[in-house]
Amino acid sequence: MTERQIVARLAREARPYYPRLGMAVLLGAVNSVLLLVGPWALGVIFNKVIQPATDRAAHVQPDLNALYLALAATYFSVVLSNFATYGTSYITTWCGQRFLASLRQSLYERLLRLPLQVFDRWRPGELIARFNSDLQVMSDAVSVSLPQSIGAVLTFVGSFVTMIVIDWLLTLVLVVIAPLMSLAVSRFQKLISSSMSRSQSRIAHLSATLTEVLQGQRVVKAFGREEFEAERFRNRNEDYFGAFMKMNQFVFMQPAVISAILTLGVVAIIWLSAHEVLVGRLNGGSIMTYWLLVVNLVNPMNRMAAFVGDLSKAIVSTGRAYELLDLPVEEDDGAQARPLPRIRGAVEFDDVSFAYDERSGLALRGVNARIEAGEIVALVGPSGAGKTTIVNLIPRFYRPQQGRVLVDGIDLAHVRLADLRAQVAIVPQDPQLFRASIAENIRYGRLDASDDDVRAAAVEANAAEFIAQLAEGYATEVGERGVRLSGGQRQRIAIARAIVRDPRILILDEATSALDSHSEALIEQALDRLLPGRTTFIIAHRLSTIRRATKILYIENGCVLEVGTHDELLARGGHYARLHAAQFAL
Ligand SMILES: Nc1ncnc2c1ncn2[C@@H]1O[C@H](COP(=O)(O)OP(=O)(O)OP(=O)(O)O)[C@@H](O)[C@H]1O
Ligand SMILES: [Mg+2]
Repeated sequence: MTERQIVARLAREARPYYPRLGMAVLLGAVNSVLLLVGPWALGVIFNKVIQPATDRAAHVQPDLNALYLALAATYFSVVLSNFATYGTSYITTWCGQRFLASLRQSLYERLLRLPLQVFDRWRPGELIARFNSDLQVMSDAVSVSLPQSIGAVLTFVGSFVTMIVIDWLLTLVLVVIAPLMSLAVSRFQKLISSSMSRSQSRIAHLSATLTEVLQGQRVVKAFGREEFEAERFRNRNEDYFGAFMKMNQFVFMQPAVISAILTLGVVAIIWLSAHEVLVGRLNGGSIMTYWLLVVNLVNPMNRMAAFVGDLSKAIVSTGRAYELLDLPVEEDDGAQARPLPRIRGAVEFDDVSFAYDERSGLALRGVNARIEAGEIVALVGPSGAGKTTIVNLIPRFYRPQQGRVLVDGIDLAHVRLADLRAQVAIVPQDPQLFRASIAENIRYGRLDASDDDVRAAAVEANAAEFIAQLAEGYATEVGERGVRLSGGQRQRIAIARAIVRDPRILILDEATSALDSHSEALIEQALDRLLPGRTTFIIAHRLSTIRRATKILYIENGCVLEVGTHDELLARGGHYARLHAAQFAL
């Protein structure tokens, strides 16, 4: 997206805030008028009091009423102007933060609807950076720069117009240097936004490193790689530091250059106006007012230059946020998507080929398989064969590039995604628990499950016993990744979660790591209660689960090579028999 497109979109999306922003501008305009009062009053004091008092030869009495009036006007205009500034800042910040809050929400909702491919491709830190540092840059812009720049622009306009009224010829000088200034501003803006992009992508890199280490701290410790990770972080930290400082060079240099140009104009104006007084075209009071207005002008102009820098930073960040916001969501329901009423659970793979992305090769090649409703299917095969990939297609986490996956004879490509997933439950290999109570973690399977349902599910999953031993029972909070529970306990909670969901199709990725035999027995009992009546896919590593299956799919290299029961396949003496001999036979 180009900078212009980003700004246009921003302007469009900010439309609901226009009335409020209009108020802010109105208050800013009031403020800019109030700021004229001081210079005007000083001019009056000079002409009506100071001039007559110093130049006694003129025999004009100093006008003390005018003095007091001018002083009162100065005082009240300053006080009111500060309140008006407060109003402008508050309203603008409110609008900005409201806008950001809803942007943050949309970003989050978008994130929830992204297809899994995106998460395969983007590192979590990259995504997190858009939430943290990019939104922070935008927040600074809307809370600090925007209100101040509204004030500055209006003050500039007010002073400028008044200066034209007092002496348009003089003021022309400023108009002459304007193109020079805008040239400088636009040059800097380009430099700032390109260096800003670089700096933001480096901080994303940095935070990706951080999240990786946080997720993998056990690995880091186990391999004693603290120094190595510190070094890696140091390099990226330095990269970011360098990029950030480069950007700030431009940000800080901009006002200096702008002010060099501007001051040239100001000096010319002062020189010319002094000349005007010398030749008698302007009186002392007007010149005093005029000079004060020039001062009024310089400050906002300097600030505006800085704001342009902040705003171009913010635009870069907005672009990065929009980039995330525009990622295509999971291909959901076209208008023709069929509702999927309660299914029986027959699943068919019809010549399915699939690749995760263009670069990697086929993960599945021409898979054909028919699974009747209620069957228990064990997927067996070497690591990397494509077992997880096959089951990933059932809840439509991914779509096959070729062939069809059918449920009860209906092509999954054409059904409503929500209907499909409502009837599928997954017990992953390494189940993740949310940071919430155990009861809430189980209820995640079906949000309207009653407490009794939750308890019943826990009993069925053989989890009730260990839950009862926890100090707070079902209300026990489990950590961010459930670290306070053992693998077997987490898996049983995940099974309870699947049980409350009461799915028609159950997908179970058996833990490869050996559980202790007690947990294993408990989990098997739980499965025996969960499996009947549902179609179940088990990526099986244990002989006992494989034996229980009504059908075994032997998978290798993305192809289903053998199909049959344990005994049939053993009798055939093929791939499965060899795997069995190598893995299980004593
Ligand atoms: N998210 C992904 N993006 C790209 N390629 C992937 C992705 N997940 C798996 N693959 C690739 O697809 C192939 C099949 O992987 P899959 O995870 O299905 O194997 P698996 O049979 O489940 O193995 P394991 O028993 O080790 O879990 C592998 O070559 C793997 O590299
Ligand atoms: Mg797998």
